[in-house]
Amino acid sequence: VRVLAVASEVYPIVKTGGLADVAGALPLALKAHGVEMRTLMPGYPDVMRRLAGADEIRRWPDYFGGPGRLLAASHDGLDLFVLDVPHLYARPGNPYVTAEGIDWPDNGLRFAALSRIAADIGHGLVPAFVPDVVHAHDWQAGLAPAYLHYDGRPRPGTVMTIHNMAYQGKFDRDLANAIGLPRDATFDVHGLEYFGGISFLKAGLQLADRITTVSPTYAREIQSDEGGMGFGGLLRERAGVLSGILNGIDTEVWNPQTDPHIAYRFGTNDLTFRAANKAVLQQQFNLDSSDEAPLLGVISRLSWQKGLDLLLETIPTILGEGMQLALLGSGDRDLQDRYQAVARANPGRIGVVIGYDEILAHLIQAGSDALIVPSRFEPCGLTQLCALRYAAVPIVSRVGGLEDTIIDIGEADASDRDATGFKFAPVTADALSGALRKANATFRNKGAWRRLQLSGLATDVSWRNRAGDYAALYRDLIARRG
Ligand code: ADP
Ligand code: GLC
Repeated sequence: VRVLAVASEVYPIVKTGGLADVAGALPLALKAHGVEMRTLMPGYPDVMRRLAGADEIRRWPDYFGGPGRLLAASHDGLDLFVLDVPHLYARPGNPYVTAEGIDWPDNGLRFAALSRIAADIGHGLVPAFVPDVVHAHDWQAGLAPAYLHYDGRPRPGTVMTIHNMAYQGKFDRDLANAIGLPRDATFDVHGLEYFGGISFLKAGLQLADRITTVSPTYAREIQSDEGGMGFGGLLRERAGVLSGILNGIDTEVWNPQTDPHIAYRFGTNDLTFRAANKAVLQQQFNLDSSDEAPLLGVISRLSWQKGLDLLLETIPTILGEGMQLALLGSGDRDLQDRYQAVARANPGRIGVVIGYDEILAHLIQAGSDALIVPSRFEPCGLTQLCALRYAAVPIVSRVGGLEDTIIDIGEADASDRDATGFKFAPVTADALSGALRKANATFRNKGAWRRLQLSGLATDVSWRNRAGDYAALYRDLIARRG
């Protein structure tokens, strides 16, 4: 089975969030299931720098308004196609936004170009790799199924995966001409039309053969008007082709026994060295060195989705309970400022690092006692999976993939599954405070806490089985299309 994946970011080459982790890890895990996946991504400066030895396989004098090339390359076990179109992608900073944090004004063109080439590869542009399935990730790839549909030629099967319903790729319908889509498609409520404009995500949701998202609970939530963020009705109509497949994590990158980024490596049964990592983490975040104070960790984008404004409201609880907080994050200016202010006001107790820092992220997983993820919605979430693997006990809201991947201490009593963490609902500061207090009480019972850690460590968070679900989906799709 040959699959062309289309993604706007791929770890370890470019990453702004979990999408990159998934796009970077899934192809490797699929090999064991007989799926040959190649991933198409844009040629941002970081990509061009890292893939200096890439082979040019096609060249165009005018691709969406300037010269363009399609390259093939391999990197860290990943087989890649890179669309090198300097006037669209050769820009500093983030794949999506300017240094000031504003969307690039031509994002519609930039990601239409990516999807157009995906569809062409689908039609056989590269004879050495003619895919059976084109698998589009998020809105940036949403037009790939649409081009394949409107081209009206024999085509591969198409899968659209939703990593985040909040990003919908909405543009003016006048874009249709520039991106080579039939104008009718932009007026079609079963096509791209979306509240008077067009949406690339909608194109994918409407026109792909299959839709997946990254957890079973999120697959249900997005069929409601609230969770669907405008697409609830569409997804209810297409419920028959929608499924949820949980993400895994790359257990080589996230392996406490071999992790080069942490101060002290530790094994699956011997947690002695966690205390040493905790001490290093306390140092790095200017926290009082103390074994006894439960250290709470956060690694997150700072956005409304992640509920970190609620965590700010629980600072009195954290202080009152004698807990410490180490937060690593970047995003909303307002949240950044507020966190820096609480850190200044509570030296030794609250430590904040604003920025994106992979090494520090590993250290937080290895040294914090608990990891907090208070999201308002969470399609899957990866940091709680890393936490399980590093024996940091997750404290999470009861939404999306958080609900599916963590077993609450109370739930475990009622079933024969071992508890791995704490879940709270509704997603409010009060409920979060309650969970923090409960976690603190449990932490004081060393045996109970250790049981949580050990059942976390025993949880399979790898891609092995989840990749099997994707392989089965591709095979089923191919079989049904004949
Ligand atoms: P999302 O994709 O919504 O941001 P996920 O939990 O799926 O959330 O994935 C986030 C990924 O990004 C994880 O691998 C996490 O470790 C990483 N990450 C998030 N914020 C930071 C940061 N400030 N520094 C380093 N890594 C981060
Ligand atoms: C998105 C979601 C996150 C998910 C990630 C990878 O960024 O916010 O929940 O884990 O995609 O699928």
